Amino acid sequence: MARLLLFGGKGGVGKTTTSAATAVWLADSGLRVLLVSSDPAHSTSDSLSVELGSSPTPVDGVPGLFGLEMDPESKISSVLPKMGEMMNGMNGPGGLGGLGGLSMMLDPNAKEEMESVRDEVKTSDMVIPGLDEALAFDELLRHVEDPTWDVIVFDTAPTGHTLRFLSLPELIEAWSDRLIRMMRVSGGLRSMLFGRKESDSMKEELERFRRRVLHVRRVLSNEEITSFTLVTIPERMGINETLRAHESLQEYKLPVPNCLVNRVTPEFEHPFLAKRRMAELARVEELTSEMPDVNIAIMELLDDEVVGIAALRKVGAQLYGDVKAHPSDLGPHKVGKAIQHSIHRGMTREVMGEIERISLHYPGIDRDDLSLRSEDGVLFVGLNGREREVETSVPTKASRVKAKLEGDVLHLDVPLESE
Ligand SMILES: Nc1ncnc2c1ncn2[C@@H]1O[C@H](COP(=O)(O)OP(=O)(O)OP(=O)(O)O)[C@@H](O)[C@H]1O
Ligand SMILES: [Mg+2]
Repeated sequence: MARLLLFGGKGGVGKTTTSAATAVWLADSGLRVLLVSSDPAHSTSDSLSVELGSSPTPVDGVPGLFGLEMDPESKISSVLPKMGEMMNGMNGPGGLGGLGGLSMMLDPNAKEEMESVRDEVKTSDMVIPGLDEALAFDELLRHVEDPTWDVIVFDTAPTGHTLRFLSLPELIEAWSDRLIRMMRVSGGLRSMLFGRKESDSMKEELERFRRRVLHVRRVLSNEEITSFTLVTIPERMGINETLRAHESLQEYKLPVPNCLVNRVTPEFEHPFLAKRRMAELARVEELTSEMPDVNIAIMELLDDEVVGIAALRKVGAQLYGDVKAHPSDLGPHKVGKAIQHSIHRGMTREVMGEIERISLHYPGIDRDDLSLRSEDGVLFVGLNGREREVETSVPTKASRVKAKLEGDVLHLDVPLESE
């Protein structure tokens, strides 16, 4: 099963940028990646400068990367056809929005029944709380289960109250009978013809849906599959919101291994900027102590917006390391730190006695898809037929390199001594 990387956080903090940069980086590493966005504003298309559709669309210039923007009108009818039909009926005369419709005139008993459920169920949205999210995650899971993909990156995952859909299974269990009864009384004229057989098939439908949401919940809480990255900015409100989101995600048992603090003021010799940076880093420190189990990475404010593949590649290199360069060559800022704590570890290298260990992180990697070769002392790692150069401190031969796969991490032990 593919990996699922979720990026969530409050508005405008950089979720689209970091999820797109991550997707590009992973595809550049040779993985088959699907970037999914639920933002109706088409910001993912804008960020990639590629027009995405509601089915996987190849991203020009990044082999292996596909993107899609979810249809905001996720069709309830596709998952719950009977429910959908009835819910449409509820917006009509006699629906929960307005008592006294035609159905009331036809069925005086309905009025009493209606009133008894009205207190609990004020709007049709509350009939199934969080239905939209449930449908979005159901769609997302279909991609996670699709063997085409190694990794699914999801931009703008819900946090906080929008996660309430995860409680749906219990709710449906407790409510199933009541829901159906309510549908019948509020469904307008059509529901008058709604017999026992219909009720039973709707119950079955709800039960299937309940199991499906249970499955979503299992996948989301499985840290082998899912990892949530909280994206934030180093400002008081951002920090507070992140702590709250972390708490609610933990409540629902979602694995949150990473937090990315974006837009940190870079280091400049200017008293105003230096002061800002200090205050921001103090807030990052606070996050670190409040969420000791979470990797905290920082991403500095860049001198321009991040639009297009080239810009996203630069962000990816800052976050996860550029395979072509040594960390020390990665520019004036403290990206080394970001790499050490990088949110998917990316590439790290350390010298261990006589060897240099290069570790590459590939979520969802399969040993059979990997290859290793060298040419004139230069090492190449291949994945699914795509190769990338891995720079080593000394020229080496593939036959001298020990490759070891530990979970998602490929370790390459390169001897520092020449033959
Ligand atoms: N580190 C950075 N330096 C400079 N600009 C950045 C940085 N990160 C993001 N941006 C810019 O900030 C803007 C907002 O970022 P982005 O769209 O990724 O945020 P978002 O969290 O997805 O927002 P929304 O909640 O609206 O979906 C974009 O124009 C993006 O290019
Ligand atoms: Mg966005």
